[in-house]
Formats: sequence, structure tokens, C-alpha cells
Amino acid sequence: MAKSTSFSREPENSCTIAVGLLGAGFIGQMHALALRNAATSMWEPKIQVRPKILAEVDSELCAKVGERFNWEEGTGNWRDIIDDPEINLFINAGPNHIHAQPTIAAAKRGKHVFCEKPLASTADEAFQIWDEVSETGVIQMCAFMYRSIPALNLAREMIKSGEIGEVRHFRSRFLLNMLTDDGNLSWRFSKSQAGLGAMGDLGSHHVDQARFLVGELVRVGALTKTWSTDKQQKILDVNDDAFVCAAEFENGATASFEASRVAKAHNLGGWIEVDGTKKSLSFQMERLNELAIYEPNKGPRTQLVTQKGQPYSDFWLPSGIQGQHPLGWNECFAHQTRHILEAIAVSKNLSPRGDFKDGYRVAEVIETIARSAESGRFEYVNYRERLSKADSKTK
Ligand SMILES: NC(=O)c1ccc[n+]([C@@H]2O[C@H](COP(=O)([O-])OP(=O)(O)OC[C@H]3O[C@@H](n4cnc5c(N)ncnc54)[C@H](O)[C@@H]3O)[C@@H](O)[C@H]2O)c1
Repeated sequence: MAKSTSFSREPENSCTIAVGLLGAGFIGQMHALALRNAATSMWEPKIQVRPKILAEVDSELCAKVGERFNWEEGTGNWRDIIDDPEINLFINAGPNHIHAQPTIAAAKRGKHVFCEKPLASTADEAFQIWDEVSETGVIQMCAFMYRSIPALNLAREMIKSGEIGEVRHFRSRFLLNMLTDDGNLSWRFSKSQAGLGAMGDLGSHHVDQARFLVGELVRVGALTKTWSTDKQQKILDVNDDAFVCAAEFENGATASFEASRVAKAHNLGGWIEVDGTKKSLSFQMERLNELAIYEPNKGPRTQLVTQKGQPYSDFWLPSGIQGQHPLGWNECFAHQTRHILEAIAVSKNLSPRGDFKDGYRVAEVIETIARSAESGRFEYVNYRERLSKADSKTK
């Protein structure tokens, strides 16, 4: 029998990135999982991840998640992360109103920063994050994870290459249920903690996709609704439960957005469609390996986006006679994590995965949608530009 070999924990040319994570809630756990998974990619170079400090104010949760995902240290104070000279990457997975201060502080201490969407509770705050973090020159990423889904990357390639012709329409729906059986509302329903509701939470993903696939939005006309009340009467500033919006892109194409967090029967329903002068494309979150392609006189055909050569097909396993296996949200999240690890380790470039300029621009569109719902009129989006130097030193 052959003698066993021991494998190097630090393969040649690999680099190790020490991470500090704020928040061990739903998406904090997803980041912890994705960090581990992203480090196992077949992509070169190998990048090791060191889960160093987990900051979570709920000490029981901190211990549970810290142990489950093998974090070295737990703390209730996020400043411990930014004070640690060994930390290279700060991930902010806290509620929206905790995004600005720790993210800016981490960047000012030279940490690369990866912040959850929506970038902030308001467009003003999102602008401030983009502006101040860009000044520091660290790598910055806003967690628009749809940008790391293979089918949507294929859609983007088809649109950018002109295969579907000129884009005429973008259409999206995002439906799920955030109401609990006990009638208590979470921080997400509070304007002071979350900012906008369905608009900011759900709409931000789809507005970003509209920009990723088609381009910038120039004007919007919207309607919002709020039905929810907090049984405990703790949250009194309840934000929007649902919105619908008609919009126009810079290139004259139309867009429509609908999102609801009170669509009780929906798990995570997300539909994104683009119509061009030659072809139409349709994506559904619940079938995320598929892209439906419509051609005149042929009707729709479903392209399974797991084929060799397609986006991310070389990420997890060698393709071969066992076929290409379907992926899930979990894996797509790890694709996103790999992009920031790779930008830190080698490329310094995250385009087109979504930086804080994208986070800010989405926030500005979302706030314009809210303004339009209030005024009852179409409103133009007024994008602010940074006064200083380049947009982002990392681009
Ligand atoms: N990318 C996505 O698809 C996606 C999905 C879900 C949530 N999110 C975003 O992730 C963020 C968090 O959402 P969530 O669903 O995980 O919420 P959550 O309530 O499940 O988790 C937030 C955690 O942060 C902790 N926390 C609050 N203040 C803190 C502080 N000062 N220091 C340390 N920890 C603190 C809370 O105790 C909680 O455990 C939000 O911005 C949300 O929009 C993104």
C-alpha cells in the first residue's frame, strides 16, 4: 500500500485572508458558510480563509454560530474587529442602520469591506459610505448576490453581445412572506432601523439587477402599501409592505418592479425578464439553474445554465462524464464571496460584481421610488457624484 502524504495547509502561491464578521443572524450565518465554501473553489489561486472574529450582540447566538463555523473569537463589540491588525476583510451582516459607521471605520483602518445590501437605510448614508470608503482605497463590495448567479450572468452576456437585440423592457417581481405567526415584527419593518421596507429590502436586489442587465434608470412612478402592525407595539414606524413601480432606463427601455413581503404563500419568488427586439429572456429564482429563452415563432426553450463553459461551471467540480450538477443559492453566495477574496488576493478588481457606487445608486433609485409614491407623480432620479478624485480607487 502506498505511503500516505500529508497535505500542506498553505499550498504554494496561496494566500490567507483573515476575516471579521459583524452579525451572526440569517445572512451572517450564510457569510460564514460561504467563506468556508468559497475557499474550496477549483479556481486559482487557492485562497485560504481564516474566520477570526465574530461580532454579535446576542452572546448565545455568537457562541452557537462561532462554534458551528469554527470562528477563533467571539465578541459583542465590532470595534474589536477593526482594532485587530491581523484582520484583512470586514464583513458587515448587521441590520441596515448598523452598516455605515462600522463599515467606514473598518475601511479607515485599512480593512477591505464587504457590506450587505441595502448599503444603508437612506441614500444620504449610502452616499457617505461610498464616498468615505472610496477615499481609503480599500476593496469594497456590496452584497448584490444576484450578480453571482450563473443564469443571470449568461443573460448579461447575451444582452451585452447584442444577441437579444435592443432591450425594450425589463420586468421583475419579488414575493415572499416576512410575517410571523405571533404577530411580532422584526427590525426590518421599522423605518428607523431598516429605512424602506419592501422597496429597500427586496427592491434593492431587483433594481440592481436592472442596472446589471440593462443600464441606469432615469425616472420612476410608484405606488406603495403598508398593512402590517406590530402586535407588541414595539415597532411604531412601520415601513412599506409592498410596492409597484413603472420606470424608464437611460436608453428609453421600460422597466416594471413589484415586490411584497406579505405575499403569504410565497417562499422566495423572484422573476426577472428582459425583452429585446430579437429575443426575450426569463429567470425565476426558484429555478435558478435555468434561463428561458424566447425566439420569434419558436416559443420558449429552457437553457440549463450548468453546461461546460458557462459562468461558474468550472468553480466546484470537474465537468465530465458524470454530467454537470445543479447549483443552489448557497453556492451562488459562495461565488460572490470568492469574487471579493480574489479581488483582495490578486485582481484588485471587482467589476461587475457590485461596489459601493452600485450600492449608493440603487439606494438613490429606491428613495426616488418612495418619493414618487408620496407625490403621486413620476420623479427623476438625481444621482450624486463624488466631488473628490476618481469614483473608486479600486476600479
Ligand atoms: N444578500 C441577501 O440576499 C440578503 C438576505 C438576507 C439579509 N440580507 C441583509 O443582511 C443584513 C442582515 O439581515 P439578517 O436577515 O441577517 O438579519 P438578522 O436580524 O437575522 O441578523 C442581524 C444580526 O445582527 C446582530 N446585530 C445587531 N446589531 C449589532 C451590533 N451592533 N453588533 C453586532 N451584531 C449586531 C443581531 O443581533 C442579529 O443577530 C441586512 O442588511 C439585510 O438586508 C441580505
